[in-house]
Amino acid sequence: MAKLSVRDVDVRGKRVLTRVDFNVPIKENGDQIEVTDDTRIREALATINYLREQKAKTILMSHFGRPKGKRVQKYSLRPIGDHLHTLIGQPVIFSHETIGDVPEKIIEHMENGDVALLQNLRFQPEEEANDPKFAQALAKFGEVYVNDAFGAAHRAHASTVGVTKFIEKCAMGFLMEKELKYLHEELDNPAKPFVVIMGGAKVSDKIGVLKALIKKAETILIGGAMANTFFKAQGIPIGASRVEADKTDLASELLDLAKERGVKFLLPIDVLEAQEIRAGAPTRNTSRLSREHGISDGWQAVDIGNATIALFEEEIAKAKTILWNGPVGIFEIPDFAEGTIAIAEALAKSGATTVIGGGDSVTAVKQAGLADKMTFISTGGGASLELLEGKELPGVAALTDK
Ligand code: 3PG
Repeated sequence: MAKLSVRDVDVRGKRVLTRVDFNVPIKENGDQIEVTDDTRIREALATINYLREQKAKTILMSHFGRPKGKRVQKYSLRPIGDHLHTLIGQPVIFSHETIGDVPEKIIEHMENGDVALLQNLRFQPEEEANDPKFAQALAKFGEVYVNDAFGAAHRAHASTVGVTKFIEKCAMGFLMEKELKYLHEELDNPAKPFVVIMGGAKVSDKIGVLKALIKKAETILIGGAMANTFFKAQGIPIGASRVEADKTDLASELLDLAKERGVKFLLPIDVLEAQEIRAGAPTRNTSRLSREHGISDGWQAVDIGNATIALFEEEIAKAKTILWNGPVGIFEIPDFAEGTIAIAEALAKSGATTVIGGGDSVTAVKQAGLADKMTFISTGGGASLELLEGKELPGVAALTDK
């Protein structure tokens, strides 16, 4: 069922309680907190600026880190509010408390077009417990509720679900809409061939997603340490490579499922192997992997190999729609990043609709300087995976039907 959009609600002059995901990576610099990647804040600007133009009173709320219901200075949202101030060129009124008298007074004195930010929701244990009293207290701050926190939409918390029971009109923000358009609508009915590239360390994190995508994609390309579990399932020696030894049955099941459905499920045909995971460690490209010729004893796979890069590039060039989730090597170490960068470059010149499904592949695309060449880059981590798996996101389900 389609959900109400912020565009469908009269927000003019109203108090709009807006859930955003300002859970951004930071670096501690003495007493200072530095935002190292502000993409999530920038992506919320479309909604924030729209509300400002509409002369709404925008009350922003977000979680930040995992402080487990306690006040942890490092996770105060104050520096994030300052950062937002520089982005919108307007002061952001910061409430150092999440609920109670402090935010109540601030909100009472807000003028049309003002923007306020509440202290980290997760300083209160009631947030993650989805406590109805806490949700009701939050709900009192707004006449309208907007959820633009796609990254937190898989969490059934007070600010994403509980609060919607107490406000009549609960709408999606523009970022939420955009995420659902690409990750849900577009990939539900993709232009074909649909090629999926899955990487990352663990098969166990991606089983649900792979099962769902085997039903939709023509081709699935596997990289990263998760490929080792598939190698092991096929009897290919993996040397000292990282593996989920107890997940080989699942890997075999996925291979069988792909075969049954006629999906091209391609594992790396060669890898770059190293004796140690560190920059400068000696590396070498393996020969074609088989049961007889696997990864050498004492060596481990750290990236896809040259023949695999060529094979994957060929598949990517044929695609009309591409979804990429997870790097194909340990790209944080430049010596092991060639495969991941090659994938990013192949996507950039593919001409296909390219969707980057969140997490480390987003970092990789940015590091390669190719972010603006992709059709869509998700701001979600866990939320993207759950959506791709076909699960209903509680933070979306709770919004008002159109
Ligand atoms: C994320 O970074 O994936 C979201 O902000 C959700 O954070 P969480 O996993 O701590 O709930």
